[in-house]
Parts: sequence; structure tokens; C-alpha cells
Amino acid sequence: MAVLITGIGELTTNEELGRLTDAALVIEGSKVVWVGPAADAPDADERVDVDGRAVLPGWVDSHTHLVFAGDRTAEFEARMAGKPYTAGGIATTVGATRAASDEELTANLLRHVHESVRQGTTCLETKTGYGLSVADEARSARIAASVVDEVTFLGAHLVPPGADAESYVDLVCGEMLDAVAENVRWADVFCETGAFDEAQSARVLKACAERGLGLRVHGNQLGEGPGVRLAVELGAASVDHCTYLSDADVEALAASETVATLLPACDLSTRQPLAPARRLLDAGATVALASNANPGSSYTTSMAFCVATAVLQMRMTIEEAVWAATAGGARALRRDDVGVLRPGARADVHVLDAPSVTHLAYRPGVPLTKMVWRAGDRVR
Ligand code: NIG
Repeated sequence: MAVLITGIGELTTNEELGRLTDAALVIEGSKVVWVGPAADAPDADERVDVDGRAVLPGWVDSHTHLVFAGDRTAEFEARMAGKPYTAGGIATTVGATRAASDEELTANLLRHVHESVRQGTTCLETKTGYGLSVADEARSARIAASVVDEVTFLGAHLVPPGADAESYVDLVCGEMLDAVAENVRWADVFCETGAFDEAQSARVLKACAERGLGLRVHGNQLGEGPGVRLAVELGAASVDHCTYLSDADVEALAASETVATLLPACDLSTRQPLAPARRLLDAGATVALASNANPGSSYTTSMAFCVATAVLQMRMTIEEAVWAATAGGARALRRDDVGVLRPGARADVHVLDAPSVTHLAYRPGVPLTKMVWRAGDRVR
């Protein structure tokens, strides 16, 4: 069945057409089949008039950690009272996640994914990383794969309390990787003081690449370090956080295919400076924005909040921020079927209750999602 979405006041396609006015698009099955001026639109089985509203691709949230149980309100309160964020808090969520049943973990994941979809997210990546044993990582990967688009193995999130770091890296590269491989497309490592050093991170990433997994890196979150350089050297699809960057890091990213994925909600929630988006963009690096939804460092699923922060506080233009949260996320996941609206793309369509995407920053905090289609299905 073909659905004509017409009366579009402003259409962001992320294609050369740019922002169109008086536009329409047609979706059929799971795909977009036509985009153009409303006056030229073909007939369809169903017609939805969006009455002058803005339409854009669904958000592509390329960095979340949503297979978890428990709550870290107390840690957040301590942070707001001046205690710094450290990697160690991850262990609290590991304890709660290990203690939860499969049903509890699945229900929690679904609750957060539905929360994301209601706000316009139509493609979502999530990670393991709160299991940190062979059985618990395998279970997290299986549960994630049953719910989301893209799954990342993050066994190298933290050395579990009491474990020896080198032996744990052996486990991640061996038995744990074997146990998760069928359910994951990506591998990631938290390359940071208090988590994994450069040699350990490289060992994990190389083992995972040999198994055919694509690479992602958590890097330069809490200070300058080797994460960005390692990600670029190993051809990772993205390096995420990028809060503290040397000039050499910026240059390396600009000269590479590795996407710099910025996580502004995390920077705010952990009281870090905001990542240097302008330096990256001006140097020519590819920038994505993602929520980093997790119970510790960034407990929000709101991509609109990330876009508003990027514009209001990181000096990204609205066009740059919207692109980064849609096509940029797709680039970070090495996908060309989402984050764009063109014939052949997945029909992931986000209608705002506003005449322009500018309202995402102009009206921060206001829930502006009016309608959402995901792979051609109306989900809001
Ligand atoms: O991306 N930095 C490492 N991992 C997550 C935080 C996880 C946590 O604190 O539970 C992040 O911020």
C-alpha cells in the first residue's frame, strides 16, 4: 500500500535537494518511493496531510547502552554535589544487570526503545557491557539483537572488580567474543584511564576485527588519550565522546573515514566541557550526535535535546546538528539506507509539530514529535 505524505511545509532530505518547501513524499512497504514538490505528487492509496509541518528523517541514535537494570540516581546526586564522574560507576550497573532476569532486561530495553521511538528515533544502536562475564555478555547480546537495529559488543567496558586486567582481556578476545559473535555487528572498547589502556584496547579491537566485526571506540571522554588515534589507525567506523581532543586528534579525524560521535547530554550530565564540535567541523571531520542513553553518564533518550544543545551551546548550525543526528549517525553505523529521505531509503519519517527544524533549538525542551513512521509502519 502506498502512502502519500503531503502538505509538508519544510522537508529535510539530507540529499542534494536540501530543504524543500511545499513538498510531499510517498512511502510504499518499508521504503520511500518518491520525493518532490507536492504539486507533482503521484496518487497513492492513502493520503496524510501534515498541514505545513516540517518533516525530516527519523533520528539515527548510534550510541546507547540500554541493556541494563537498576538505577544510579544517588551517583547522579553526588555528581551534582561536586563528585567527579569515573568509569568505576559502571560496576554498580553490572551488579544490577547480572541480578536481573531475561524478562526484566528485555522489558527495560523495550521501555527505553519505545521512549526513543516516541521522540522520533527510528534507528538505534545499543551495546552490551553491563554483563562482563561470558554468560552475561552473551545474554545481553541476544536480548539486544531481539529488539534493536544495531548491536555492539562492549565486553571491554570495565575490568570487572576483582579480575586481573590482562586475563580479562584474554577472556574478552576469546571465549566471550565466541559467545556473542552471532548476535553482534560491532565491537567497542572503553579506551580511557580507569578502563582499558592503549595496548589492551588494541588487542580487543584487533581480535574482534579478525572475527569480522566493525569497530567503534569510546575515546577521549575524560581526558586526552590514545582513543582517537587508535580508532583512526584501525579504521573504526566511529570514535565516540571526543570531549578532549589534541590538534593531532582533530587532524587525524579530518583525514579519515572515522566519524567523531559527540554525546552532548553525557558531557552535561558528567559536568565535562562540551565536545569541540566547531573545531571538528571546521577541520573537515564528519560529526554525528547521539544520546549515549545509559543509567550512569547520560540518562536521556532525547535526540532533540542533543540537537538543541549542539546548536545553543556547541555552535553547530541547525542544519549541521540535524544532519549529525540523522545522516551522521547513519555514517557512524556505515549505513546508507537510514538518515536520508530519497527513493530507495527506509521509510523512517519524522513529522515535527513545527513549521521548521529550527524550532528544535528555538523551542528547546518542548516535545515536538508529531508523527513517526519506521520502515513504513506508523509508530506514532
Ligand atoms: O559512554 N564511558 C563509558 N561508558 C558509558 C558510561 C556507562 C556508565 O557510566 O554506566 C558512556 O558514557
